Amino acid sequence: MSVEPLVLGIETSCDETGVGVVRGTTLLADAVASSVDEHARFGGVVPEVASRAHLEAMVPTVRRALDTAGVRLADLDAVAVTSGPGLAGALLVGVAAAKAYALALDVPVYGVNHLAAHVAVDVLEHGPLPEPAIAVLVSGGHSSILRVDDVTSRLDPLGATVDDAAGEAFDKVARLLGLGFPGGPVVDRRAREGRPDAIAFPRSMLRDASYDVSFSGLKTAVARWVEARQATGEPVPVADVCASFQEAVVDVLTAKAVRACTETGIDSLLLGGGVAANSRLRALAQQRCDAAGIALRVPRPGLCTDNGAMVAALGSRLVAAGVAPSPLDLPADSAMDVRTVVSAGADA
Ligand code: KG4
Ligand code: ZN
Repeated sequence: MSVEPLVLGIETSCDETGVGVVRGTTLLADAVASSVDEHARFGGVVPEVASRAHLEAMVPTVRRALDTAGVRLADLDAVAVTSGPGLAGALLVGVAAAKAYALALDVPVYGVNHLAAHVAVDVLEHGPLPEPAIAVLVSGGHSSILRVDDVTSRLDPLGATVDDAAGEAFDKVARLLGLGFPGGPVVDRRAREGRPDAIAFPRSMLRDASYDVSFSGLKTAVARWVEARQATGEPVPVADVCASFQEAVVDVLTAKAVRACTETGIDSLLLGGGVAANSRLRALAQQRCDAAGIALRVPRPGLCTDNGAMVAALGSRLVAAGVAPSPLDLPADSAMDVRTVVSAGADA
């Protein structure tokens, strides 16, 4: 094996077929085929549609990633794949493909945790991870605050959403405003023309002692406010609603993240997941981290949303750390626990 492991990463936990190629901590290719347009008319990801799209996109996306990286399958030292958490049928496509490549190439396969991959991706842009670190992972499927002692072996959940994920709240608010799917990017854009203090939406759980968050009440508050406004016959100030809603989300997330750092004495904060692409979350996190003496690391937006590069990045770290790979009976595990970084197989 070369000094720096060459790893193929496959991600199919939701609606992105992502294939990345990483050598050591260098990103060589990040190919993504998204089925998002096929879900748009349903206002959310339809699992069966996503699985079918992964099946069709898998081999061409692997080809594209290898071509971009300028490597051949035979050059690979290992294959890493998201084995969970995520949509069961969607995960299955990636896991089956990864096993097939690993078996055919006679290289190890690592079934990795999607959340750990969201953390590990930052090495591709900013170098070795500061460990320990606090990580805030916010996307359409998950919202967690984690303590990361070693991304190859130890991630401990400090808190999580008790109801909707942050991205889900963005998607639902966008839907009720008629802004389409996915909602995050368009709410982010419209919010720039609005006032964040125009409407006082609730900050659920902001003052409680836990690191848990809740976005379902906020979503309902936005729906009630919009309905009340419509009942008066006045136009809904979409930009102000977007800005005020977004401010409520990022206020709670950044306050809890900074408190997690100060209370644990950890001075590095990492953001990841699709919602970490949010411009206001990035700005407010920077402002609050600067004020508290915390070093903030956020991957560029394209690496925050689901991709294969993050899986390859984690795979490369695992190979380098000498972590044992998964057995070939590696299952897709839709409810994989965040404390499990690498799947130990069906019987574990
Ligand atoms: O990480 P990701 O690509 O997939 C999941 O694992 O869910 O995250 C997708 C989520 C969607 O809910 C989308 O609306 C949200 O991330 N998102 C954003 C932004 N870009 C994507 N939310 C807020 N602001 C954004 N700029
Ligand atoms: Zn994700």
